[in-house]
Amino acid sequence: MTDKTFYIETFGCQMNAHDSEKVVGTLVHSGYSQVETPEAAALVLYNTCSIRDKAEQKVFHRLDQFKRATGKGKVFAVIGCVAQQEGERIFERAPHVSLVAGSASYTKLPEMLVQLEAGNRRVIGLNLETAETFDTPFTRRDNPHRAYITIIEGCDKSCAYCVVPFTRGPERSRTSESVLREAAELAASRYTEIQLLGQNVNSYRDPSPAAWDFATLLDRVGRVPGIRRVRFTTSHPRDFGKSIVDAIDENPALCNHVHLPVQSGSIRVLDRMQRLYTLGDYMRRIEWMKKARRNISITTDIIVGFPGETEADFQDTLRLLDEVEYDSLFSFKYSPRPNTAAIAMDDKIPEEEKTRRITIVQEKQRAIQIRRNSDLIGKIEEVLVEGRNQALGQWIGRTSQNRTLNFTHRDAAAEPLTGKYLPVQVTRAGPNSLVGESMQCGVM
Ligand code: 5AD
Ligand code: SF4
Repeated sequence: MTDKTFYIETFGCQMNAHDSEKVVGTLVHSGYSQVETPEAAALVLYNTCSIRDKAEQKVFHRLDQFKRATGKGKVFAVIGCVAQQEGERIFERAPHVSLVAGSASYTKLPEMLVQLEAGNRRVIGLNLETAETFDTPFTRRDNPHRAYITIIEGCDKSCAYCVVPFTRGPERSRTSESVLREAAELAASRYTEIQLLGQNVNSYRDPSPAAWDFATLLDRVGRVPGIRRVRFTTSHPRDFGKSIVDAIDENPALCNHVHLPVQSGSIRVLDRMQRLYTLGDYMRRIEWMKKARRNISITTDIIVGFPGETEADFQDTLRLLDEVEYDSLFSFKYSPRPNTAAIAMDDKIPEEEKTRRITIVQEKQRAIQIRRNSDLIGKIEEVLVEGRNQALGQWIGRTSQNRTLNFTHRDAAAEPLTGKYLPVQVTRAGPNSLVGESMQCGVM
């Protein structure tokens, strides 16, 4: 390839978004330049997600669109979870694709690029048996204030519905030293918020002799000078220890927000899902957080319509929502995935029934959020300013609890506030965001 332009399109979770940032950094370091449209690019990369729905079909449809819209002479690369899942089948169904690589092979990306440049029409990276993590000094971050840091890749659990262990391979933790070095470098580049990433951050185990657990690493990242906020995602309840809550209580740089996916409120369904915790175990973790000194915001993920989920099981989930009163939740209709244990389970729930259940979950949760957000009216929250909504004449802020708080500021648009931390008084509350007024004209 003489024309070294590339376009990348990304789907999926934050891990995927961050992988794309690393891929972009690696490509730029290899002399490529990023362009905004597939038409303008010589190399088109598509970073895919296969967590739910007919992911594969969507990928082939999009690849077809790319081909038709952009004409001949381009190199197409499919990376991410669908690449790992479908492997060489992608070449059969989309012969215009030249590179298929899963995330566990990205450490080999520079070599794969050389092969592509040499005109190789079938470059493959699908090996999951890697002990390596994709650490790269060349990450190109999308957000100027908040940065992702991967601390652990892969997943060793085997939840019956989940494709991730098959697409991202076994768990590999990074050394604490390399995580802290990256955090310090980010602070030096004026980043103030860090989000630690992993499919299951709680099972982080420092491979160096220090052998830190997740709570220790979290606390230490929160002590890096210049870092004002640290978040983490995502947690598996089985491995979520009390020491994490203690760390949040003790270290104000750690955001008072925990995303703890429960998936179901039914003991029976949790068992069938192979989640490795009981409802009692889960509720104990909720208690730790509710009893904490800081006001910890709790959010979750719910799956409705898992095979065999009865009306009584579903009612258990609704009861759990009332009991915990989450600040927010993501709800999903169960979607059968290849290779997973649940695909062979009987008692599939009809699509209309899944739709009915998810609607009920969302309506209930909406009422809970209106109530909980209203409790914040009159309170003062510190926000990190993320941008401005010109149409509404409001700045967009995010609280430590991860709520969106849009606010007006006395000096209107006079000074750029993006990236600053400000105290804001909450004046109104909706189900998904808050509205407020900045408490000062100066800047913290
Ligand atoms: N069907 C529906 N939802 C799923 N999730 C994971 N796999 C599936 C599936 N097969 C949801 C879980 C998980 C979130 C990231 O996606 O709730 O926590
Ligand atoms: Fe999607 Fe899961 Fe892969 Fe993330 S890890 S991109 S959510 S399939």
